[in-house]
Order: sequence, then C-alpha cells, then structure tokens
Amino acid sequence: MAVLVTGGMGYIGSHTVVKLLEDNKEVIIVDNLVNSKEEVLNHIETITLIRPLFIQGDIRDEKLLEKIFSHHLINSVIHFAGLKAVGESVDEPIKYYDNNIVGTLILLKVMKKYKCRKMVFSSSATVYGNNSNVPFEESYPLSTTNPYGATKHMIEDILRDVYKSDKEWSIALLRYFNPIGAHESGLIGEDPNDIPNNLLPYVAKVATGELACLSVFGDDYDTPDGTGVRDYIHVDDLASGHLKALGYIDGTTGIEAFNLGTGNGYSVLDIVRAFEKASKKTIKYKVVNRREGDIPICYANANKAKQLLNWQAYKNINQMCEDAWRFASNKSNHKE
Ligand code: NAD
Ligand code: WQD
Repeated sequence: MAVLVTGGMGYIGSHTVVKLLEDNKEVIIVDNLVNSKEEVLNHIETITLIRPLFIQGDIRDEKLLEKIFSHHLINSVIHFAGLKAVGESVDEPIKYYDNNIVGTLILLKVMKKYKCRKMVFSSSATVYGNNSNVPFEESYPLSTTNPYGATKHMIEDILRDVYKSDKEWSIALLRYFNPIGAHESGLIGEDPNDIPNNLLPYVAKVATGELACLSVFGDDYDTPDGTGVRDYIHVDDLASGHLKALGYIDGTTGIEAFNLGTGNGYSVLDIVRAFEKASKKTIKYKVVNRREGDIPICYANANKAKQLLNWQAYKNINQMCEDAWRFASNKSNHKE
C-alpha cells in the first residue's frame, strides 16, 4: 500500500518524503514542478538511499490521477500541492482558486472513485485570520484576509462536507505555523527562485550576500521589541507531524484540525540575531513601514497535537537557523 504525496518535491513535501521513506513507507510523488526542481529527487535518494516513484504532472489532470490510482494501491494521500504566495494570490486570485481549489476537488473525486478515503491536508495558521488572541486554538473561529488563505479555509470546509457525506473518510487538517530550517544534510530546504516574501529565506540571502539588506516590516507593534512575533517551527519537526497524522488517520475515521507549531513566539529581531549567530555574518537591516495584512503576533497552542497525535516540536530557534544556514550557504557556493 502506497502513500501518494502531492507536491512532494516542494519544501515541506520533500522533508516529509524523506521521513516516510525512512519509515519504510512506499511513496509515490506527483508534482508539476511549478515551484520545485527535479534535482530534489536525487537529494532524497542521497539521504535515504531510496528513489521514490516520481510522476511529473498536475493534480488538475484527472486522467493522470486516474492512471496513478488505477495502477497503484494507494491507501492515503498527503496533499501538499498548492500555490502559497500570499501577495501573488491577491494579484492573481483566479490562478490560486483554480490551482488550489480545483486541484483539490479533482483529487478528491478520483480518491472517492478508488475508495481511498484517508487524507492529510496542508492547511495553515492563516485560517485564523486577523485574530490576535494568542495562543491560537483549533476551536477558534476561522476567517481569511487574502485569496491564498481563502483557499485553505475553503478546502477545510470542503473536506468537512466530504466527511459529513461519507463517514468512512479520515482526514487530518494540519495547520502549520511558520516552517523554517532545512534537512540537517544541507541538501534539501527552501529555495525560492524569486526575491523571497518570507522572512527566513530573505535573511538567508542577506547572509550569503545575494541581497543587500533586510527590510523589517514595522517596529511599532505591541510586542516585546516592537517587531512581529511568529511561531517558527523546524521543517523536520513539521515533517514528523505528518507521519504521526498518517498513523492517527489510519486507525480511525473522522476529521480533525491540528495546530503544528512550537507554542513559542519569536520576533523578527530574535530571528536576525539567531541567524547572525548561526552564520557568523552580520545581517544588515533597516526598519520600514508595516506590511499590509500582517498581524502583530501569532503562535500556536499545540496541545491537541500532543494529546491526540503524540507529536511535539523539539528543535529550537538556533537549530532552525543553523540548518537553514547550512542549506543556504551550500546553495550559494554552488551558484558561484
Ligand atoms: P512548495 O511550493 O515548496 O511546495 C508545493 C509543491 O506543490 C511544489 O513542489 C509545487 O511544484 C507543487 N504544486 C503546486 N501546484 C501543483 C499542482 N497543481 N499539481 C502538482 N503539483 C503542484 O510549498 P511548501 O512550503 O512545501 O508548502 C506545501 C503546502 O503547505 C502548500 O499547500 C502550502 O500552502 C502549505 N503551507 C505552507 C506554509 C509555508 O510557510 N511554507 C505554511 C502553511 C501552509
Ligand atoms: C514573518 C515575520 C513579517 C519578511 C506567511 C503567510 C502564512 C504562512 C507562512 C502559508 C512577519 C516579518 C517578513 C521581510 C519582515 N504561509 N518580515 N521582513 O507573514 O507570518 O506568514 O508565511 O500558509 O500564511 O502569511 O511569514 O515569513 O512572511 O513573516 O520584517 O522581508 O517577518 O512582517 O512579522 P508570515 P513571513
């Protein structure tokens, strides 16, 4: 029985594939490489000594999914495939709704046909919207502030309706907080092609000298140092959460949301300092205006994942920055 991993060549997907292979799971990856590179497969093989089956294609291609499900016995799906850039989703909402919503609907249609009713879905803390009543709990009301977030909210609703219609389904909605870091080998990590939107890849590129200076988006928030506070979680801990969730849905039916975060908040300047320590470089920064849509503070109450999944995050902010730096400096050396 195989696990189908949509978006398995991407940042979080590739780390999860490594853990699945290390756990002797049979893995099939489907990814259209819209935001990842084929070389990731070689790195997965170097780390695990196993080359999983990779099918390059789009999850909106129903015929392709039919072919995959008819040729393989697939027990469950970990569904990472999606577009994730908040700013781009505001400029190109149709692209986001088409890719994320239509893609998920076609996937669900084919899963239903082949009676594969187990899914781990990549949701996001973005579904808590503008709420700043930290720590966020799974029971909080959901809202969204941009099309990307709306796709996550809608897909959660779609999956709840799917479960209501057929109680044989078993679904875990994993709400990630801010994933950072990289595999300890330095071989896989987050490697955006364009100028990064997210803090960590931006800081890493300042450290390697590819970008000159970090813009800190506001230092007048009601937080300890005035800069935004987030719950950064090591991608390796996050990947482990998927294996725990897979085990959980295997033994039950139902639909449950889980926060995957550390429960700790760190400010932008905490991250700058931790990255300086890890890289032994000075991170040049200047404070600019707040970024539209940002909330001051966001961190998880991750008790539910601890209780039901027996999962918790172990890696601290220094390990996150050290691993991110190893990956970023490797990449940067290879570009020279
Ligand atoms: P990523 O872009 O690195 O990985 C997503 C992968 O999906 C990429 O390899 C991309 O090529 C593939 N993909 C996209 N659309 C596809 C399609 N239609 N068909 C086939 N493949 C497709 O992103 P990531 O950071 O690894 O995120 C994985 C998932 O987790 C996404 O759904 C994202 O929205 C969600 N998420 C990410 C974060 C984060 O900060 N990284 C936080 C919360 C939730
Ligand atoms: C973190 C902090 C910024 C960049 C986003 C999505 C969310 C989720 C994770 C997918 C904030 C500050 C950032 C910079 C800065 N993704 N910052 N200068 O906004 O918490 O979450 O990624 O689901 O949905 O919204 O992450 O890394 O962009 O920002 O000062 O150049 O760093 O203001 O306080 P965010 P981020």
